[in-house]
Amino acid sequence: MSQENRATFGGRIGAVLVAAGSAVGLGNIWRFPYIVGENGGGAFLLVYLCCIMLLGLPLMISEFSIGASTHKNAVGAFRELNKRWTVVGYLGVLASLLILSFYLVVAGWTAEYTLHSFLANDVVRSTSVEVQTAAFNSFITHPWKPLIYAVGFSLATHIIIVLGVQKGIERASKLLMPMLFVFLFVLACRSMMMPRGLEGLQFFLTPDFSKLTTSSVLAALGQAFFSLSIGLGTMVTYGSYFKSTTHVQGTAVRVSLLDTFVAIMAGLVIFPAVFSAGIEPGAGPSLVFITLPSIFATMPWPALWSSLFFLLLVVAALTSTISMHEAGTAYMEEEYGLSRRKAAWCVTLFVSLLCCFCSLSLGAWSWLKVCGLSLFDAFDYLTANIMLPLGGLLTCLFTGWFFERKRFESQLYPEGKIGRLYPVLRLLIRYICPIIIVILFADNLGII
Ligand code: PFF
Repeated sequence: MSQENRATFGGRIGAVLVAAGSAVGLGNIWRFPYIVGENGGGAFLLVYLCCIMLLGLPLMISEFSIGASTHKNAVGAFRELNKRWTVVGYLGVLASLLILSFYLVVAGWTAEYTLHSFLANDVVRSTSVEVQTAAFNSFITHPWKPLIYAVGFSLATHIIIVLGVQKGIERASKLLMPMLFVFLFVLACRSMMMPRGLEGLQFFLTPDFSKLTTSSVLAALGQAFFSLSIGLGTMVTYGSYFKSTTHVQGTAVRVSLLDTFVAIMAGLVIFPAVFSAGIEPGAGPSLVFITLPSIFATMPWPALWSSLFFLLLVVAALTSTISMHEAGTAYMEEEYGLSRRKAAWCVTLFVSLLCCFCSLSLGAWSWLKVCGLSLFDAFDYLTANIMLPLGGLLTCLFTGWFFERKRFESQLYPEGKIGRLYPVLRLLIRYICPIIIVILFADNLGII
């Protein structure tokens, strides 16, 4: 595709909403609470917030700038800026597709929860944790049902991708994200009023540093990158669709704030209810799917609340799957000269196959393990704890030391006047971020 007829996102708000659509998703509402639960609560939250501010934000600014200054997919962008760094683009596209593979499985679960809430079966009305847990486990281990939902989700993503960047993605993001914010707010109020709700709040908001280990710091970093959709090609690809008038730093700040706001709201919804229902906060990936229905069941019209909420979650997941798919599709389209339709099919077929394996590894094919983890958990661990931090490290090093300074600055300050905080940003990108990530890696690998 020539640069002249490459699609762009509409104005400032369009860019923020689309990028926030990628960032806000199951990572905030499904992954964040269970990772916080597994890592001991408040202290983890504090480290997470530091990771967002000190590492996530500078990295998002870097990725947007790389995309916006080249108007190319992740691989093409790094190649244009410096051939030797093309590998970072490849790593990013690969990470996007691997994440998409297990993400589609969870997205499929939300679709099933929407449908069964809508049909108002008995489980929806049950306040019993045992009933909710049994229903969840029997669904995710079913030999074919979750596959149908995951592949269905993959096809829905495909259709929006083929409709085009602006029309499909922007329209979907603009419409339903604000609804999700309001909904979370209402649920948080409800959840905090449940018996023992304050204990949950305390767990989430009071730091207890004795529970913090260096591997939980790495987990916080991985979660921050996962949640902001950075450390892989996605935000480079989205930056490449920015108009020349789009404000890179302002967009990154707004997206990070929105994303963090949603994650904290999700914590405020989940933890009071977790304590109220007597669920173990470290219950893992099932946490949200057991806790949320138990909140809805205590409310009037549980089926209505439940189906609406899961529907919004489906939409939030869809705007994220679109962004990961787009990273792969733009790569196939531009690097191999395929039509958009063909490029999208390549990605859809690839991830649909992988998502079936991920889903089966939780049930019928439980022998499908990598290093003792199910394929699903292995993809999650590999991407969030290794590939994203590594991608983030390389992107920081590239931007700080090899991205032509004038070109970087012209993205951040198109009017030519350098901002007051620019020296801080440069310090973070050149030294602080890479040093922190290297120390965390070295510590986790037992080198220091
Ligand atoms: N940030 C998304 C979420 O929190 O659900 C997940 C995600 C989207 C990760 C896009 C990576 C990505 F490239």
